[in-house]
Amino acid sequence: MMDWGMQNRLASIIKPKSRRCVMLAVDHGYFQGPTSGLERPGETVAPLLEHADALMVTRGVLRNTIDANVNIPIVLRVSGGTSILKEDLSDEELTVSMEDAIRLNVSAMALSIFVGSSHEKQTLSNLAKLCDRGQKYGIPTLAVTAVGKEMVRDARYLGLACRIAAELGAQIVKTYYCEGFEKIVNGCPVPVVIAGGKKIAERDALKLAHDAVSAGAAGVDMGRNIFQSQWPVPMIRGVRAIVHEGKTDAEAWDMVQSLIG
Ligand code: 5RP
Repeated sequence: MMDWGMQNRLASIIKPKSRRCVMLAVDHGYFQGPTSGLERPGETVAPLLEHADALMVTRGVLRNTIDANVNIPIVLRVSGGTSILKEDLSDEELTVSMEDAIRLNVSAMALSIFVGSSHEKQTLSNLAKLCDRGQKYGIPTLAVTAVGKEMVRDARYLGLACRIAAELGAQIVKTYYCEGFEKIVNGCPVPVVIAGGKKIAERDALKLAHDAVSAGAAGVDMGRNIFQSQWPVPMIRGVRAIVHEGKTDAEAWDMVQSLIG
């Protein structure tokens, strides 16, 4: 039986009515610095927040750029320690204490695991520690299956990484969409959400979201395909229509176009 606080926090992210979520990811700067579109993250996210179920963010951006009066569940990025200047991005540690996560009133904590990488054990051990700490205070853990350059993003690899994340205690797993995505969902006992990945055409990003939820994803944790779009608000609304209202990607694209128009 899940603890009340844990269940309540999860329900604030994955909406009980649709059992799905639209999370807006803006944590990219934790290793990429001022990512295109996130130079002034507070301004970027302000018009998007009312259309998102949760915001994935680092504590620095949260404290310095997001209005504390806003009503949005926070999924706090709590792993890091590397930068794009290094070849190997897998050498991550936990970067936020439980006390600070609680002080920031977060609804979940997010960290990356790098299965098959040179720091596989370290990142999996970080996940296990974080799940223990989160369990103590009723705060869910979202595990991100980060993929090194040498890894193939196929259902076999991503299914392995997602299942390991759930086995170690993650309450939500975020991964990439790929062919055979149903297998990943079937083999993972906790909700799986997808990252959007690099910016692609708006129409294709909507198809990606639709393919993912049709294959069993609990929604999206999407960043660049929303905030790097020329039309971020129409895009998040289109994604939302797919995730929560069962619209097809064609219907969502019509909606996006009429919002742009
Ligand atoms: C980085 C992350 C990002 O939040 C994630 O990649 C989602 O953003 P995008 O849709 O831009 O891929 O977890 O490790």
